[in-house]
Amino acid sequence: MFRFDPFSPDVDADPFPEYRTLRDEHPCFWSEEAGMWVLSRYDDVVEALDDWQTFSSAHGNMMTELPGRAGATLGTTDPPHHDRLRGLIQHAFIRRNLDTLEAPIHQIAAAAAAELADRDQFDFIEDFSSKFTVRVLFAVLGLPLVDEQIVRSKAILMVQNDPATHAKGPEHIAAFEWMKDYAQSVIDERRRDPQDDLITHFAEAEIDGDRLDEREVLLTTTTLLMAGVESLGGFMSMFALNLADFPDARRECVEQPEQLRRAIEESLRYNTSAQRFKRRLTRDHTLHGETMREGDFVCLAFGSANRDERKYPDPDVYDIHRRTQGHLGFGGSVHLCLGTSIARMSVKVAMRAFHEVIPDYERVEDELPWMPSSTFRSPMRLVLAPTRPTPKEDSWHTTATSPAR
Ligand code: HEM
Repeated sequence: MFRFDPFSPDVDADPFPEYRTLRDEHPCFWSEEAGMWVLSRYDDVVEALDDWQTFSSAHGNMMTELPGRAGATLGTTDPPHHDRLRGLIQHAFIRRNLDTLEAPIHQIAAAAAAELADRDQFDFIEDFSSKFTVRVLFAVLGLPLVDEQIVRSKAILMVQNDPATHAKGPEHIAAFEWMKDYAQSVIDERRRDPQDDLITHFAEAEIDGDRLDEREVLLTTTTLLMAGVESLGGFMSMFALNLADFPDARRECVEQPEQLRRAIEESLRYNTSAQRFKRRLTRDHTLHGETMREGDFVCLAFGSANRDERKYPDPDVYDIHRRTQGHLGFGGSVHLCLGTSIARMSVKVAMRAFHEVIPDYERVEDELPWMPSSTFRSPMRLVLAPTRPTPKEDSWHTTATSPAR
């Protein structure tokens, strides 16, 4: 009998064969292990995203939700409450002009890449992407820099779950509490001493006399820290993994950095780090002959929809020249990721800076340790080895191009 367990380490490592069975044979599937329905075809997922009146986010959107988040922040509310929050937060966001951030972000990436220049191998995640994402997010949000590894480790724990209990464990909840305390201390500081930064703008954002209340400011800031650090870092690791595994695509991106834009979209389609989010039914709903009941939870498998052959020809082929329009790497409809522009720009700038120092590299380990998370998918470690010309090749090169010898 077919089973689909989004908590299983096998699904963390490679969900794609099971996604195919889901799409072909069980397009509306009750997963006993997850305790929810799973929608896996592109059209069904898009329809559910658009029909937020039936597929509600108000009971949480992460497959295993953190306590107190449901109903209190962007990803966990429905319109009109959601639209009010999104309006206020976007208002704060657009006061920061993205263009002015590109140069400082490049500087952050170039400094992190320079530290790797002489290394024979390194962990892309620990030595590059986590340093980069935390520094960028802190610059964007205007936070004082604390220990990068601590912030990243807490953000990662927040999105994980215990594969044995299918729920958040004490360590995941403690990480959430740590992040909330940290966010609260910064909010308090900004209230005492306002700055021209995003947290101050959140705290003060006002449209027609309406403002975010204390709990909304706190949970929004905490969610942005988690989304910013984990989602951005997780996706960067997936992107680097793709470029390591598909050297033709990498060479194109190195030789013509403007191709990075295409490659990023293809990686968001091919293996977004944001694989599965959940909704809860506000009424009975029948699909493919199955009746889902009011109150049931439903998993929207973005990662599967992006590989649906009904939408994308040869979906398992990584092709940076394909049409990726409509991919659900950032979700869609009213809950489309708020960080799309900053994420696209940061990843492009970071990989360009990385390639300026390390243009050629390969993966060292065949088997990767995958994060235990039913919502997100990314490796916990990605060891890369720069491939440099051997000394022999070097001297041949020098001799061949030097007529004096
Ligand atoms: C490449 C990296 C990222 C990916 C793959 C990603 C993915 C997603 C996805 C799939 C959703 C929709 C969730 C749902 O439908 O329930 C989402 C929502 C969201 N993301 Fe991202 N995200 C990324 C980066 C970021 C960054 C950098 C930020 C903040 C600076 C951010 C902030 C948010 C917020 C606030 C929402 C909720 C939006 C709403 O409900 O209106 N994300 N993200």
